[in-house]
Amino acid sequence: MSVQWGDEEEAWFHLAWLRDNCQCAECRHPSTLELVLDHSTVPASITAAGLEMEDCALRLRWPDGHLSRFDAGWLRDHSYRTEHREARRWRSTPWPADGRDFPPSFDYQSVMDRDDVLLAWLRSVRDTGVALLRGVPTRPGEALRVADRVAFAQQTNFGLLFDVRSKPNPTSNAYTALALEVHTDLPHHDDPPGYQLFHCLVNEPPGGDTVIVDGFALARDLRAADAEAFRLLTTLPVAFRYQDERHDHRVQSPLIALDDRGEVATVRFAPNVVAPLDVPFELMTAMRAAYQSFLTMARDPRRQVRFRLAPGDLMTNDNRRVLHGRTAFDPGLGDRHLQGCYLERSEVFSRVRVLERRLARE
Ligand code: OGA
Ligand code: ZN
Ligand code: ZN
Repeated sequence: MSVQWGDEEEAWFHLAWLRDNCQCAECRHPSTLELVLDHSTVPASITAAGLEMEDCALRLRWPDGHLSRFDAGWLRDHSYRTEHREARRWRSTPWPADGRDFPPSFDYQSVMDRDDVLLAWLRSVRDTGVALLRGVPTRPGEALRVADRVAFAQQTNFGLLFDVRSKPNPTSNAYTALALEVHTDLPHHDDPPGYQLFHCLVNEPPGGDTVIVDGFALARDLRAADAEAFRLLTTLPVAFRYQDERHDHRVQSPLIALDDRGEVATVRFAPNVVAPLDVPFELMTAMRAAYQSFLTMARDPRRQVRFRLAPGDLMTNDNRRVLHGRTAFDPGLGDRHLQGCYLERSEVFSRVRVLERRLARE
């Protein structure tokens, strides 16, 4: 059936889809809000036995007597006409070409005290992929308090809270004074963490500057410059491996994953945990070339945004989009100490929606 709203917008709906999505308390549990209706029981050929308009809602009676009611607004929010789907789709925000006021920064205390500022910071993290908090107390554990303000920290093999400093017997290049080429964290996990929080406690020695790259822009530029390399990096796996005494993580995954529209959705990459490439013999030369194109583009200084974390700064990155790294430093010339933790992607998106809902009500 076709529905037309007051502003002349129109959309078609399948009757079976409408029956599937009945909002009544029998079909959807009124307290859990989860489905009770079994979708396997709704025939594709279902017809309507009656139709009425009521205020701003549509009432449909089904052949078995069941009654469904759909608000006009609900129908619009869920319309699957191409233009409506496009308009609803989340889009990432490009980084500013002139680099001004970038990364966006927010005041720690305001984020902790005020829901509207928390929402602004999280929207920035979600849409731009990176944001800084300033004025974070330089006491250890503060990264976890910030994570708790959003949702909860995600446990990984490096612990709930990890200390990034040059240590004896390091279990990661991150825990040395070496430069870290730009990367995403934990690409050797099946499902790498969604966001990382880096809280700077001390940053004394020269070096240790932060470098970030927009992985979405990089992947799109690679697609435009070298379609074949892009195709290989979205279809053939790179092998990642991380091992220490207690762990041996191995994952084979393409560097770039696409969404259902064929657009870049995820970049997964860290050169220090790349394992021997494992692709068919006849594709190895082309795959190495594609991988090297990616590396060259990631290291192009014109693509890299550089700044220095100061004590009291906390950087949050989208670990599916933003590559981050640091320059080498000399631990003999001073102490450098960051603390990090992770947040799940779903929790960040969820917190934004719940805050939006709550603030709209006030
Ligand atoms: C890391 C990392 C950045 C830094 O620990 O994964 O990227 O500035 N550290 O030390
Ligand atoms: Zn129903
Ligand atoms: Zn990292």
